[in-house]
Amino acid sequence: MDLYQAIRERRSIRKYKPDPVPEAVVLRVLDAANWAPSGVNLQQWKFYVVAGGKRDQIAASYGRMTEQNYPPAGKRTEQQETFLQWAKTYGGAPLIIVATMPREELQPRRHKMHLESVAAAFQNLLLAAYAEGLGTCWMTGPLADEANLGTILNLPANEEIVALTPLGYPDQVVQEKPRHDQHLREKVVWLE
Ligand SMILES: Cc1cc2nc3c(=O)[nH]c(=O)nc-3n(C[C@H](O)[C@H](O)[C@H](O)COP(=O)(O)O)c2cc1C
Repeated sequence: MDLYQAIRERRSIRKYKPDPVPEAVVLRVLDAANWAPSGVNLQQWKFYVVAGGKRDQIAASYGRMTEQNYPPAGKRTEQQETFLQWAKTYGGAPLIIVATMPREELQPRRHKMHLESVAAAFQNLLLAAYAEGLGTCWMTGPLADEANLGTILNLPANEEIVALTPLGYPDQVVQEKPRHDQHLREKVVWLE
């Protein structure tokens, strides 16, 4: 698949088929993530591929968190109800990929370097997944419950979560959201 086409057509998917994703495909996608550039070539990303009961625990955590911020059942808007279903199930995705980076307190510049490296790998992951016919949704909202997620994943104390994404075959077609300033008049500054 052409790179520009993948960049342009990838969308955040919030509804998935239950079909399993072959391990070889998951590994191809994570290999693409592993080829990202990284600060000092530290390749400081780590990926947790979460399935089965652990996946359900992660989804329950997001559901609980979302429910806490919403009015009680019966008083929610349709939009809130739809979002809650998405949160509780991650749209039915069979897998959740959690990306982590080293936790280094008191070193803000290295923190930035680690974060940017893992973000680069994560975007590679999203694009490779799209090329494989898979759906993803870059998510940081669920990190509001990061401590509990860390417990579910048995995360070592020296790792912190950067983002997670459901991974599975899409069960929806998502319209593209127009980008602001499409002609790049405000977002790009040319200097000489
Ligand atoms: C850093 C980051 C955090 C995001 N967090 C969430 C999230 O918590 N929940 C969610 O549903 N989507 C999340 N998204 C997805 C955005 O909503 C989505 O990328 C944006 O609306 C553009 O849509 P598109 O990805 O289909 O082009 C996140 C995206 C990024 C890059």
